[in-house]
Amino acid sequence: GAKKLWGGRFTGATDPLMEAFNESIHFDKRMYSADIRGSQAYIKALEKQGILTPAERQTLHDGLAAIEDIHTANERRLGELGRSRNDQVATDMRLWLLEEVKKQIAYLRELVAVLVQRAAQDIDVLMPGYTHLQRAQPIRWSHFLLSYAFWFQQDTQRLEQFVPRVSQLPLGSGALAGNPFQVDRELLAKELGFSSITPNSLYGTSDRDFVAEFLFHSSMIMIHISRLAEDLIIYSTAEFGFVKLADAYSTGSSLMPQKKNPDSLELLRGKSGRVFGDMTGFMMTYKGLPSTYNKDMQEDKEPMFDAVDTLTGSLQITAAVIATLKSKMKGSLTGDMLATDLAEYLVRKGVPFRETHHISGAAVKMGEDRGCQINELSVADLKTLHPAFEDDVLKVWNFEQSVDNRCSVGGTSRATVNGQIEILNKWLSQ
Ligand code: ARG
Repeated sequence: GAKKLWGGRFTGATDPLMEAFNESIHFDKRMYSADIRGSQAYIKALEKQGILTPAERQTLHDGLAAIEDIHTANERRLGELGRSRNDQVATDMRLWLLEEVKKQIAYLRELVAVLVQRAAQDIDVLMPGYTHLQRAQPIRWSHFLLSYAFWFQQDTQRLEQFVPRVSQLPLGSGALAGNPFQVDRELLAKELGFSSITPNSLYGTSDRDFVAEFLFHSSMIMIHISRLAEDLIIYSTAEFGFVKLADAYSTGSSLMPQKKNPDSLELLRGKSGRVFGDMTGFMMTYKGLPSTYNKDMQEDKEPMFDAVDTLTGSLQITAAVIATLKSKMKGSLTGDMLATDLAEYLVRKGVPFRETHHISGAAVKMGEDRGCQINELSVADLKTLHPAFEDDVLKVWNFEQSVDNRCSVGGTSRATVNGQIEILNKWLSQ
């Protein structure tokens, strides 16, 4: 096999099983480009300290540009320069993740844009709003879509606030104690586009908080995706019949010809579990490590890669599903959902709310006994419940009106939903 990096003090060979158990190149290779950039910056810093001549640096630079193999391959060339893999691998991960986080931010913004577009286009569509999955009050479908847009906006902002914490350069921390050649770490940071340098080499080499934090942010994003998927799975059943998924994001049954299954949404809901697993699994690995580098830390990469891959797919599929589904909520509203509006009618007539709630409840009961909804009761029926009911109570039976009454900021009225769209469009254009 290849010559070991630590050959000198060893006499026995490594068990091939151990060799395979120990190797990480099959996943490390995803970071090869970050690794090469890190090494090229490092030899520049060594040249500045007079450790390398300009000609030597040029040779190494060109050599690095030519290779596509990482840590070990680089180090075999650079081993005599006193390099450690500990600050190297921490640098690779941060450099790699910085680029990926920027991509995830772009996918998130795209998803928000799709939700906003859809909300603007479907502004007229009303649907039942739920609590406890029980019909509660009429809302705009756009109001529902925008609730998720605001969650994804927060996810985006969390990732943006996370960037400076990833952007701390550990390079020049050595194996653990620091670099003996007084390399100019500020220069390295500038060269590699980092915003700061880690101020302590033990911290620099053994910190993986940025991995844990990324996995948390990824998990929150997947929670939002999973909840949205769950809503839409329910809404797409024949029992609800509120949305119809595009064929492109559904599949059929091999047995039952009538079936159309929301596989895309179920996968989104299911894949959230993977990402929570990546987070908890990594945290378990990380929690008991003594200072500083321990080989356990090699287990940090696969969860990070898996979370990035799962997010990349999930954010794009979610946007595509939303952009292509059909809403068909017509006729989904029923009169009893205006029971709160009926109580509010009496409040406006000066009846105390404590009483109005009870009276409206009695109207619902009356309808239930007769097998009808409250809006099918006559004014005379209502008058038997309270003398304050007058003919203008008929104006309460208007879903559009009910929704547009909720016009305080954040409400489901047309004006306040348009206000939300404006807020998000402004944010998207920044
Ligand atoms: N593959 C290792 C990892 O990812 C590289 C660092 C190895 N350092 C060491 N001292 N063995 O953690």
